[in-house]
Amino acid sequence: MRISVIGCGYLGAVHAACMAKLGHDVVGVDVDANKISELSAGRAPFFEPGLEELLQEVQSTGRLSFVTDMSATEGSQVHFVCVGTPQKKGENAADLRYVDSAITALTPYLSPGDLVVGKSTVPVGTAARLAELVKSQQPSADLVWNPEFLREGHAVSDTLQPDRLVYGVHDGSEQHDAVKILDAVYAQPLEAGTPRLVTDLPTAELVKTAANSFLATKISFINAMAELCDAAGADVSLLADAIGMDDRIGRKFLNAGIGFGGGCLPKDIRAFMARAGELGADQALTFLREVDAINMRRRTRVVELTREVCGGSLLGQRITVLGAAFKPESDDVRDSPALSIAAQLQLQGAVVTVTDPEALGNAARRFPELHYEASTDEALRRADALLLLTEWREYRDLDPYETAAKVSGLKILDGRNVLDPTKWRAAGWTYRGLGRP
Ligand code: UDX
Repeated sequence: MRISVIGCGYLGAVHAACMAKLGHDVVGVDVDANKISELSAGRAPFFEPGLEELLQEVQSTGRLSFVTDMSATEGSQVHFVCVGTPQKKGENAADLRYVDSAITALTPYLSPGDLVVGKSTVPVGTAARLAELVKSQQPSADLVWNPEFLREGHAVSDTLQPDRLVYGVHDGSEQHDAVKILDAVYAQPLEAGTPRLVTDLPTAELVKTAANSFLATKISFINAMAELCDAAGADVSLLADAIGMDDRIGRKFLNAGIGFGGGCLPKDIRAFMARAGELGADQALTFLREVDAINMRRRTRVVELTREVCGGSLLGQRITVLGAAFKPESDDVRDSPALSIAAQLQLQGAVVTVTDPEALGNAARRFPELHYEASTDEALRRADALLLLTEWREYRDLDPYETAAKVSGLKILDGRNVLDPTKWRAAGWTYRGLGRP
């Protein structure tokens, strides 16, 4: 099929490459000319494992191109909308200007029978409004919502082998024409057994925000337990192992630490609360305010704990922060708890050095006032205390004895609870985890 993908960021670039991998003819469109020239040259404009290899593989087939000109969407039968919906400045609500302008720019190029497929995370009710907009311009085109659940760092496999496909169509009916079209787009994953659900538009929109809210709640739940473990002298990692063995609960997303960040979870729960308020259902989501508050408290807690580990004052303490990305296998620093902690420590008088295998460029653009060091060895040198804040493999594998020879002070705060406290203590370190005795 001929497919266009509008918006070539973390979601769209991966989606475009994966659609070409599935055998379709794909054109990716973005207003950012730099991004387009990188992608056209087979380079990923951000770090995502496997993406660059995939781009080069599918581009060599001639089935994938990237352009800035929206008119290139003309002739495609399916148009995926993959633009961002960031948090509005100074408000909790989602900023829909990119979605709105993408659809407005696309509609002149729609032909009868075309299908516009929204993938961005939007407040419930947006799809119905946009469907009207599409119909007003091209009465025989249609708009459906097909939310994306990919995780950064696993985006390629999550797109090629999703754990489910959700199609939100106007009447929620399996018989809707769009269902057949989307089934053809996703023929390969469907044949491989991916479950697919057909819903109405609001349900499809809500599936995404509900899933992210549940994940955020799970993380904040275990972080609340970590607060309690700290107060009671218990171990949250063992607690998570034990409750996670109940298969109604499950061990995934029960890793206590510095909390969640990134371009999705934080802004999605806030936009969800804002939308619930507009719908007069704000009470239903007041718990998400607590989820958010627990999460933000983690950052303050780490700053306080660092002060404690440093003997009561941060002034002049040389602190090395291992990790800047919001999670490993990503260079994304949007709402990264690691960076926000690093910035707080610096504001409070510490001399902070931040290192990360992939995210330093993005980090420096966001927090130019921090000192960055690409080499882990250099970053470790003469540190009074280490903070492991993003659990890259390289940091999890640090040897406590070898590391001890490089730093000035044997103090480590494990913000992700991924190190073995016994090993580090045996090597002479003062080890502190979060919610671990
Ligand atoms: C999330 C959803 O998982 C994905 O389905 C959706 O499409 C987009 O939002 P992503 O933002 O890539 O994906 O990251 P995710 O893996 O969910 O992690 C989010 C944050 O939670 C990270 O900062 C991570 O470090 C943190 N986290 C995750 C924890 O603190 N503890 C955990 O147990 C799991």
